[in-house]
Amino acid sequence: MLKGGWCQFSVFLIIILSLALIPSVYARVSGPCVNCHTMHNSQNGSVVDPDGPNKYLLNVGTDPCIACHTGTNKGGGSSNGTTPYVFSNIPPTYGKDTLAGGNFYWVTLDGSKGHNCLNVPGMTPDGNLTTAPGGPVSGGACAGCHDRIDNCESCHTPRHHADDTQTAVVGAAGGFYRFLNSSAHGNNETGVKGIEDDDWEYTVSPSDHNEYAGCTDPVHSGVNLSSDDYSMSAYCAGCHSNFHGYVNTSTDTSNGGSPWLLHPTGYALSDTAAGKEYHNYNGGAGYSPLAPLARDQARLATMTGSSATVYVAAGQAEGDQVMCLSCHRAHGTPYRDMLRWDYSACDAGSANASCGCFVCHTSKDE
Ligand code: HEC
Ligand code: HEC
Ligand code: HEC
Ligand code: HEC
Ligand code: HEC
Ligand code: HEC
Ligand code: HEC
Repeated sequence: MLKGGWCQFSVFLIIILSLALIPSVYARVSGPCVNCHTMHNSQNGSVVDPDGPNKYLLNVGTDPCIACHTGTNKGGGSSNGTTPYVFSNIPPTYGKDTLAGGNFYWVTLDGSKGHNCLNVPGMTPDGNLTTAPGGPVSGGACAGCHDRIDNCESCHTPRHHADDTQTAVVGAAGGFYRFLNSSAHGNNETGVKGIEDDDWEYTVSPSDHNEYAGCTDPVHSGVNLSSDDYSMSAYCAGCHSNFHGYVNTSTDTSNGGSPWLLHPTGYALSDTAAGKEYHNYNGGAGYSPLAPLARDQARLATMTGSSATVYVAAGQAEGDQVMCLSCHRAHGTPYRDMLRWDYSACDAGSANASCGCFVCHTSKDE
């Protein structure tokens, strides 16, 4: 600190002072402990939370995750203490009051519209799926996450007190991107890295969005997609390992990408061969939140916020990648298979601005 000189020290002072002047600016929970916790679930001889006591000594509801995360989003962000809502009792408006992960509301009406997260009120087990399609394991102690989704913590390891403002890219120290790490396995590389949009994409545009870590091997030279590498696709593939991949089949790890037998993920958009359509991704209008891309991890590490720039280079290295969340959302959507858009309205040869396939396959709507 002192080595940096007076100038840097003043900047440091200004930062400290502004933090002191605006105490409400946090990208983590803030406020008196008593707002959220109860030590004995008892105050003046009366119970604090009639449904309690709860884990983490939280003072709300039968299921604290649901109690705090149910509602209708009205804007505002992490920096001003807003709570992000992932479930709404009343019909949400897709893309208007929903966040990046979508909303579990639609899944309570139709199990094919998302993850059947069983602690959500009104949620029933998926009628079609008795295990995670393509999953690596099944049964026994693994079932509550790999065969069905028992609760939010099947996917998240909450770290509400972790400071995720220190660096732009949130990793282990910040509790990982959106607390995405397996509580059952929990070695660091099963976590996800990314840059967190302040309002969870309540407002979203080519230059205002989340940034996701891509796979470390976008040239698919033999590493299986489910290998842990902090990427979003490897995280999803942790439960759906054989189902999608950037190898041709679950067993073939030596392919060169042609012919594809599964849609690639963790694979960089390339412009090398003649006739590739990706150079015109999103009509040249920059990053599209309809069909988002994951970033090369070396590039991500240099980024300090979201960017509208799309990297579709000749060759694979450092190019932006197609990933699971290019086509799916994480919680639920109004569409089958938890897709980001209505796939049944994607017709070859007819332009449709709300079909995400055309964002990348730019010549298939002509
Ligand atoms: C705005 C709500 C909120 C406030 C205020 C709050 N907490 Fe928490 N706290 C949580 C939630 C939610 C969890 C759930 C588990 C997690 O995310 O780690 C938690 C978890 C914890 C944990 C267990 C996990 C860990 O990080 O060690 C401790 C200990 C804790 N809180 C202590 C405190 C103390 C002490 C205060 C006051 C100085 C406080 N909390 C204020 C919401 C809050
Ligand atoms: C006392 C209210 C409260 C409870 C209980 C609570 N949360 Fe949260 N949660 C919040 C608030 C407030 C935020 C926004 C914090 C921030 O800006 O980083 C948040 C943020 C999150 C995020 C997004 C983190 C990010 O990086 O933006 C996830 C994921 C999450 N909570 C999951 C859970 C899960 C899982 C549980 C149950 C174990 C839970 N929450 C319980 C209040 C709560
Ligand atoms: C903890 C394990 C786990 C993780 C992590 C996980 N899933 Fe799943 N997924 C499941 C299970 C179990 C099912 C089947 C039961 C259900 O639908 O809830 C499922 C079902 C699905 C379905 C089918 C939904 C339907 O009903 O048609 C899709 C699509 C999907 N997952 C995509 C993803 C994506 C994308 C990610 C990463 C953001 C992901 N999954 C992460 C366990 C997981
Ligand atoms: C199948 C795994 C899975 C389950 C189950 C799950 N989440 Fe998430 N959640 C994710 C992923 C992946 C993201 C990141 C989405 C993105 O950035 O596109 C996310 C994002 C979030 C966010 C940030 C807001 C947003 O929409 O991006 C919150 C808050 C959150 N989850 C809370 C919860 C709560 C509460 C539950 C239980 C009711 C839950 N999650 C269940 C995987 C899951
Ligand atoms: C609390 C939820 C939970 C339980 C219980 C659970 N898992 Fe997982 N598992 C996950 C999540 C989430 C992932 C994806 C994280 C990742 O791989 O990045 C995963 C990934 C995996 C993977 C993929 C390899 C890897 O490291 O990415 C294997 C194999 C696996 N689990 C085996 C098991 C076995 C075996 C059991 C039972 C003994 C089990 N899991 C129990 C949540 C769980
Ligand atoms: C190019 C878009 C795209 C990408 C990328 C993608 N999916 Fe899918 N996914 C789909 C579509 C479309 C369906 C509906 C079934 C079909 O058309 O094959 C689907 C269906 C699924 C299903 C349900 C299968 C069933 O039996 O019901 C799961 C699970 C799934 N995807 C997981 C993933 C995971 C995990 C990833 C990343 C490793 C991923 N998807 C990447 C488009 C995609
Ligand atoms: C984020 C960009 C992106 C999105 C969105 C996307 N794709 Fe792709 N798709 C790719 C890339 C990259 C390839 C690999 C092509 C290559 O090898 O050059 C590919 C390959 C394919 C192939 C195989 C082509 C071949 O050469 O064998 C088909 C078919 C396909 N995609 C259909 C779809 C459909 C249908 C959708 C919508 C559900 C979709 N894609 C969404 C990027 C995308």
